[in-house]
Amino acid sequence: MERARGSGPRGRGFKSRRAQKRKMLLLDRIEERLLKELNPKVRLVLETGRYLIESGGKRLRPLLTVLFCGMCGGDSEKALPLGVGLEYIHAASLLHDDVVDGAKHRRGRETANLIFGNEVAVLTGDYMYAKALHLFATYGTMDMIRLVSQVVMDMAEAQVLELSKVGEIISEEEYFRIIDGKTGVLFGACTAVGGMAGGCEDKDMLFDIGLRIGRTFQLIDDLLDYAGDPSRTGKPVGNDLREGKTTYPLLSVLDLLNREFVERILSSPAPSHEDIDTLRKQVIDLGGVEKTKERARREIEKAREAILSFPDSEFKEEILRITDFIIERDL
Ligand code: FPP
Ligand code: MG
Repeated sequence: MERARGSGPRGRGFKSRRAQKRKMLLLDRIEERLLKELNPKVRLVLETGRYLIESGGKRLRPLLTVLFCGMCGGDSEKALPLGVGLEYIHAASLLHDDVVDGAKHRRGRETANLIFGNEVAVLTGDYMYAKALHLFATYGTMDMIRLVSQVVMDMAEAQVLELSKVGEIISEEEYFRIIDGKTGVLFGACTAVGGMAGGCEDKDMLFDIGLRIGRTFQLIDDLLDYAGDPSRTGKPVGNDLREGKTTYPLLSVLDLLNREFVERILSSPAPSHEDIDTLRKQVIDLGGVEKTKERARREIEKAREAILSFPDSEFKEEILRITDFIIERDL
């Protein structure tokens, strides 16, 4: 399941060659800084951290952090280490999540827990999270540290909430509480921290934009779990049903499905491949993927409206292109 290289926000949706070149430069600086700041003394921590960082990733969080700083009129360079810190938090959360989910594939490769073991994966995640806070203590403000630590508390709580609902059909309200916590708030931190570094004081408005971007991101993630191409996403389809998780594609067509069959699959500790595939295809045939995309479109539209209220700039244009990528992405 090798993921196509050169795709993602690097490879599409650019207006001019000049804009593309600038974006590549920014992405290269992010990659360089991500590797440079990761400097543990113990070799195994370095190997495990690098394994995840070098496996790719779209770098949407540091990109948004830096671009929001620029859009708000600040020196975008100042936001780079903060964006890197937020990407480390994302990486730490994935290391932990794959242990919790017992996942075997991420970004087209075997997961770090499979290669290095659960203990090393969790502890490397701890290291990366602490490194992020260290970067914030060095380059950020007390306000930012308060915001980011609250976000990580929200993420951990959402993960536990999600776990506690495994095997059950959940309500739409519970679904959004979970995805806002596990994904939305970290994007909220990126747009808020970037904007604050750029001198914008309306922290709540900045955070809300990121929250909606993150909500869109997770809705599309959940859609790809039903209808994605594993050679593009780097992970198999049907994971959520296999793990007993109710997500939006299922929720959106629940009334049209046989509830007993759904409950049986979600609550089974080891549902058969055939049952998962049957339910997955029913959800697709009943329009669950389109409904999820439609819901995601409404969310990203609200984010775009708020972004459009900022003064025109190349930063703003690039942010809008990222929102296009997030809604249209297939990886
Ligand atoms: C992936 O979700 C998981 C997350 C987006 C968040 C995980 C958060 C934590 C483990 C708590 C925070 C911890 C630290 C150290 C910051 P998913 O399982 O739906 O997606 P997947 O299919 O990519 O695994
Ligand atoms: Mg997972």
